[in-house]
Amino acid sequence: MSINFSEDAEHEQITSASALLEDANESSLRPKTLAEYIGQEKAKKNLRVFIEAAKRRNEPLDHVLLHGPPGLGKTTLAGIIANELGVNIRITSGPAIEKAGDLVALLTNLSTGDVLFLDEIHRLNRAYEEILYPAMEDFAIDIILGKGPSANSLHLELPKFTLIGATTRAGQLTAPLRDRFGVNLRLELYNVNELELILDRSAKILGIKTDREGIHEIAARSRGTPRIANRLLKRVRDFAEVESNGIISLQVACDALNALEVDNDGLDSLDRRMLRSIIELYNGGPVGLDTLAATINEETITLEDVYEPYLLQQGYIIRTPRGRCVTQKAYVHLGIPYLG
Ligand code: ADE
Repeated sequence: MSINFSEDAEHEQITSASALLEDANESSLRPKTLAEYIGQEKAKKNLRVFIEAAKRRNEPLDHVLLHGPPGLGKTTLAGIIANELGVNIRITSGPAIEKAGDLVALLTNLSTGDVLFLDEIHRLNRAYEEILYPAMEDFAIDIILGKGPSANSLHLELPKFTLIGATTRAGQLTAPLRDRFGVNLRLELYNVNELELILDRSAKILGIKTDREGIHEIAARSRGTPRIANRLLKRVRDFAEVESNGIISLQVACDALNALEVDNDGLDSLDRRMLRSIIELYNGGPVGLDTLAATINEETITLEDVYEPYLLQQGYIIRTPRGRCVTQKAYVHLGIPYLG
């Protein structure tokens, strides 16, 4: 099993949606069944039907593509699907597959009905996609042995399996790959109420004492992302234990989150830098994402995948054909006079 954690110190902010090393024990908080999984009602409703139908027909579930911003529970959901189907799950990721042989080994070691979870599938080497096409469609692969005139092709049958691909950028998948997924589910940012339920559940599992307002404050500042909510919960607990009576109250949560520089709408220093740059250097926009990324010394992909979804959802920025513009809400949030 390999999960890639961000090694880029610059992104190791408490509000980073990418998996950080401190999330390595995230698995204790992962729900194991659809019933335990909070939110994503649309995706869950459809999945229940597809899983039940596959089980009744005694067939493997069709291949599933999960897409959406990081930290929303794509890996968790893949684990749940395997669990509900009663099969094993093998976990890998696009960048972890360094040679064709890695993918062939994974595929040939599957048992009938198994789930192969391929995280960050958009980062899979394009050349290896060719191996996936027949594997997904016909449950077979053709391996070329040797080179030149003496090369031989070996046809290998695979057990019937389910590929679950996860990506933050469905638009980057090639059409032939995207078309081979029979089930396509988009995960959405969570609302505050759902995050409160997730935090309640996590607090119970971790034995953390909380009250309603404390939980609400953390949920409201978690930018719609369970991974961030759970991480903030653990950090706020530290403050509660060291600087208070161990209970996460509204006051403790506010003090801790302010100390962590997560503002009252969940924006961190990079969000604010992004908004401030658009206002101060580009007169509120429009500005292209590449230009903006260069200005604030970040990667375009990070801005687009990690930061932008929440800023768009909350109405701090809008996308226009000529680039990103901030809204009046951004001026108000930063305390900069809005001149219209
Ligand atoms: N932990 C992370 N995501 C979750 C979810 N959607 N439901 C319950 N617990 C979670």
